[in-house]
Amino acid sequence: MRRTLGTCYYPEHWPEEIWAEDARRMAEAGLTWIRIGEFAWARLEPSPGDLQFDWLDRAIEVLGQAGLKVVLGTPTATPPRWMADKHPDMFAVDAEGRPRGFGSRRHYCFSHQGYLAESRRITRLLAERYGRNPHVAAWQTDNEYGCHDTTISYSDAARTAFQRWLEVQFNGSIADLNAAWGNIFWSMEYSRFDQIGLPNLTVTEPHPAHVLAFRRFSSDQVVAYNRAQVEILRDHTDVPIAHNYMGRITDFDHYKVGGDLEIASWDSYPLGFLEDRVGADADHQRAYARQGDPDFQAFHHDLYRAVGRGRWWIMEQQPGPVNWAPYNPAPLPGMVRLWSWEAFAHGAEAVCYFRWRQAPFAQEQMHAGLLRPDSKDAPAMAEAQEVARELAEAPEVQPWTAPVALIFDYDAEWAWKTQPHGAGLSYFSLVFDHYKALRRAGLSVDILPSSTRDFTGRKLVLAPGLMHLPQGLKQALAVSGAQVVHGPRSGARDAHFSIPDPLPPALPGLDVTVARVESLRPDMPVPLAGGGAVTGYLEDLEGGAAVMLRTKDAAAVAVCEGSQIYCGGWLDADGLDRLVATACASAGLEVRDLPEGIRCRRTATEEFWFNHTDSDADTPAGHLPPAGLKRLLLG
Ligand code: GAL
Repeated sequence: MRRTLGTCYYPEHWPEEIWAEDARRMAEAGLTWIRIGEFAWARLEPSPGDLQFDWLDRAIEVLGQAGLKVVLGTPTATPPRWMADKHPDMFAVDAEGRPRGFGSRRHYCFSHQGYLAESRRITRLLAERYGRNPHVAAWQTDNEYGCHDTTISYSDAARTAFQRWLEVQFNGSIADLNAAWGNIFWSMEYSRFDQIGLPNLTVTEPHPAHVLAFRRFSSDQVVAYNRAQVEILRDHTDVPIAHNYMGRITDFDHYKVGGDLEIASWDSYPLGFLEDRVGADADHQRAYARQGDPDFQAFHHDLYRAVGRGRWWIMEQQPGPVNWAPYNPAPLPGMVRLWSWEAFAHGAEAVCYFRWRQAPFAQEQMHAGLLRPDSKDAPAMAEAQEVARELAEAPEVQPWTAPVALIFDYDAEWAWKTQPHGAGLSYFSLVFDHYKALRRAGLSVDILPSSTRDFTGRKLVLAPGLMHLPQGLKQALAVSGAQVVHGPRSGARDAHFSIPDPLPPALPGLDVTVARVESLRPDMPVPLAGGGAVTGYLEDLEGGAAVMLRTKDAAAVAVCEGSQIYCGGWLDADGLDRLVATACASAGLEVRDLPEGIRCRRTATEEFWFNHTDSDADTPAGHLPPAGLKRLLLG
């Protein structure tokens, strides 16, 4: 598969007279893919049933005639104003019970049957008209499920659907639900499924099993909504279907949505994320303000490669300042090229810049594009063209199995959110801390879902924080032949969020029991003997496994037996570096201590080096200027 570039274009934003010139310039810049249509419902159907597809026919034709390939989006993220009159109760409802309103986007509830039918209808109309269009070479369903906190809705439609969902989960037995949840506590027992409300507006915290079940249900609603569109598209087209996921949006199970699609894609905004999603301290934010976090994009590249079962794209790449973060600096010269190449180094098939031309109107007028509003080139254009020239010489994308794997599980994220046990403790951050430690050690990582049972080719597998650890995964890891690292909180809850008996982690072949857990204030780290500390979360470990990390007070923090390690604390960076070094030594993996902000990644045929800092750096691959990169072909 050749690596390609693209952009996101909104023909409906511009006079038709300039479409051909835009298309000519896109092709000249070396772009291949043009994503269109995902917000255009109001122009496709200005009033109910009044279909106006002629302009889209012409836009696709103009792009196709210029040699470009179209990614056509279904426009369901932006229902037009008339939809709200037709379905006044279609809005998602927030946890305070307030319906969200019209005037931006994503104002629909995934459970609303009327809106689902409208989504199916517009998808079918588009599929019938463009499914065999030779210029439409891929489709995108909707846009960024979950964006603007829209996965979970406390609507009447959601409540009814949730009750039915629970009834199926418990085979119609309310007694089983009461027993599994432990509803005798506070007299919360139900006698019928239709008595079960949504876990909001309770006097104090709602029942954690109820909260987790509602999160699982809400995720399933996204999967079903997406599947409804995919089934229609599949009847009319053979080209791949994608969805564009986001950075650190975890409210639905992306592996499940991805299971219905050929390609995973995600929208990468490194500078915006650093400001509002990475969770970094002020010094780190300042140091990387124009480059973005050195690991955050890479983590998502690896995650979405797993979601796409190997096939993934960047559907939207930040080309300059964005509009939506607390501060929106411009990238350091060279970063747009670096971000593009970093995606390719992690196996991307395509990188598309958002957006072609900066819009002079509406919410995103402060968001850069490849072109300025006056159609002159913005600074990113030259970098995109440079990448296009470089790509012409680069090898094709080849699959590769990294010897190091890290499990990321959406259900575990929801479990931690349901009961974090300490302010600010998040599963995403725990996994990301492990990922960063692996990257500091110069390792390339594959992220895997918790449904993985085949670990062939892996030398080291990290599985931190899997609060619900299915028996099949425990067994598969124990016999995988890889060095395995579990914990903290692995196996801490059963499938319905109760503490299991025997006590966690109950791992085959590893004699350790978590006897007590405590969460720690951020200002009370517990130092480890030999360097590093436990922060945030600490368990008391009992059992006969050998101790490999202890507190200065000699309490066991990490223990090992055979090829399994259990770590019962959330380690700081120094502690994690020690844990990774020890695990790599027993796995027979070479570690490299990379300089600050220098990262490397290998593919089947190449090794890439990236300088994420704003100064010159000496790296194991030689000198790299700020935002510099090097691609080495492997023997
Ligand atoms: C994405 C979204 C785009 C645009 C962009 C701005 O989240 O998919 O439509 O809003 O952000 O950065």
